[in-house]
Amino acid sequence: MFLETIALLVILLFLLYKWFENKAIFFKDKNVKYDKFIPFLGSFKDLVIGKKSMRDAVIELYKKFDGEKVVGIYDNNTPAWFLRDPELIKRITVKEFDHFVNHKVTKSTNDNLFGLSVFAMADQKWKDMRSTLSPAFTGSKMRLMFDLIKEVSEQGVEYLKKREARDSEIIMEMKDFFNRFMNDAIATTAFGIRTNSLEDENNKFFKMGKAVINFTFFKLQFLFFFNFKVISKFLNMRLLNKKYDDYFKTLVIDNMKYRKENKIVRNDVINILMDAKGMSLTENGAKPIREWTDEEIVAQCFVFFFGGLDTVSQGLTFTTYELMANPDCQKKLMKEIEETTKILNGQPLNYETMSKMKYMDAVVNEVLRLWGGAPTLDRVCSRDFVVEDNENGNILIQQGDIVFIPVSGIHTDSQYYADPNKFDPSRFYENDSPVNETTYLPFGAGPRKCIANRFALMEIKTVLFYLLGSYSIRLCSKSHVPLELKPGMQLQSKHGFWVKMVPTNTEDHKKWINS
Ligand code: HEM
Ligand SMILES: *[C@@H]1O[C@H](CO)[C@@H](O)[C@H](O)[C@H]1NC(C)=O
Ligand SMILES: *[C@@H]1O[C@H](CO)[C@@H](O)[C@H](O)[C@H]1NC(C)=O
Repeated sequence: MFLETIALLVILLFLLYKWFENKAIFFKDKNVKYDKFIPFLGSFKDLVIGKKSMRDAVIELYKKFDGEKVVGIYDNNTPAWFLRDPELIKRITVKEFDHFVNHKVTKSTNDNLFGLSVFAMADQKWKDMRSTLSPAFTGSKMRLMFDLIKEVSEQGVEYLKKREARDSEIIMEMKDFFNRFMNDAIATTAFGIRTNSLEDENNKFFKMGKAVINFTFFKLQFLFFFNFKVISKFLNMRLLNKKYDDYFKTLVIDNMKYRKENKIVRNDVINILMDAKGMSLTENGAKPIREWTDEEIVAQCFVFFFGGLDTVSQGLTFTTYELMANPDCQKKLMKEIEETTKILNGQPLNYETMSKMKYMDAVVNEVLRLWGGAPTLDRVCSRDFVVEDNENGNILIQQGDIVFIPVSGIHTDSQYYADPNKFDPSRFYENDSPVNETTYLPFGAGPRKCIANRFALMEIKTVLFYLLGSYSIRLCSKSHVPLELKPGMQLQSKHGFWVKMVPTNTEDHKKWINS
């Protein structure tokens, strides 16, 4: 018995060793440099052990292979290609998109609201859903949604006015503030309901939304660390609890029925999804491309939470941080807002006028360069692909292989951005130079890029316009400059984002703006 146990152990160890060895030599004759294989930790080791933020781990890995076009890395235990060359990235995401259609998550999950969302859908189904949803994000729809966002922004300023009347100083943690704010924006644009999460701190929609984000990140992190399909199946990894699935399902489907019965047309995403479901209220409403299930429809509203809540409130939070840390930039932006208000001459802000604000655009671009919410993009290879212009010989990327695009590495490479760690909106403002799409990828690239990039920029700019129209954002005793990132996947500050808001009609503000 004893001997048999030993023998079994030896065999098991041998198999394990073979398995590791197999992984470790994956890149051996593939004409690339590659990272050393560390079982279970992989190339993002410092992220996995909780020492670094995802952003910093990606930058570090990017720097490690300076001068290379493509290298081999390990996504935990899975070998993956790490693309360092902007021209190659363009080929893979844009020109030869057909070889790299899907996102990595498609491989691990498909039975829940997240897995059914357009982000995780694959192949033809993805194409159909993407073209169903695209009309929601065109220029003309943007104008309509702009009005909804404007309302939410005004609601935010009203809240601050109340605080102003109550407290002697407005000291705020911006992440929490913007989360509530943006939650209201999602409620109104995606779910067709009005909430005020700043005033009513415990409204159900807010609580549910928060739980969803919590859950998604928790489980995505889990999937990231153990991206075996088997394990997630074994643990019956629904990304969300049934409770939350059901809440949103009821919310959306009941809403649709109610609108259908009462013939209510509202310019939001539900309306577009009703068209997609063949519930169109208008004679010439779009015809459905294919039959979608209730779950598939609801999942697309949910994408606003998953794709749109944290990214946008993060964008806003980091913007207020940078404006606080760089008062000259803030003053310049406030001046542009003042001039724009003059041009409006008493009229409310409109989408066209806002789109013409060049410094605003530069500030937001610069924030997303330094602090973009997605440090990497990923694709799964759906048809073999050969990189022919590699120095050390051809590279064959095979069907099923994962490729990573290190966005934050490229965004902080001094080859493309002089003095890359400096917050400097003028790089997008002076000499009329717009962004170079080859090396600027906060929203991804090609047919799979963020479906809502214009919507996201509109949200961020509108909120900033109203906020900075009434308050300057200043250092307070709880502020931390420079900021330190919290380890983990989510881009967060270790010490929160504390600021002091000073009303623009005070002496304090006047002294500051002229100093
Ligand atoms: C500043 C805010 C945002 C940033 C930085 C951002 C970034 C991204 C990135 C990097 C991707 C992956 C692109 C790729 O793989 O090439 C993506 C995809 C996506 N985003 Fe956003 N996003 C933002 C806001 C939003 C908002 C507000 C929504 C809400 C509707 C949204 C919905 C989506 C969807 C649905 C996809 C998947 C598209 C597809 O697979 O076809 N995003 N986003
Ligand atoms: C979110 O997660 C944190 C920490 O894991 C927990 O303290 C908090 O209660 C969670 N919030 C919700 C709404 O589930
Ligand atoms: C954009 O950047 C790439 C990579 O550095 C460069 O080759 C290209 O010329 C740039 N395009 C423009 C219009 O500046």
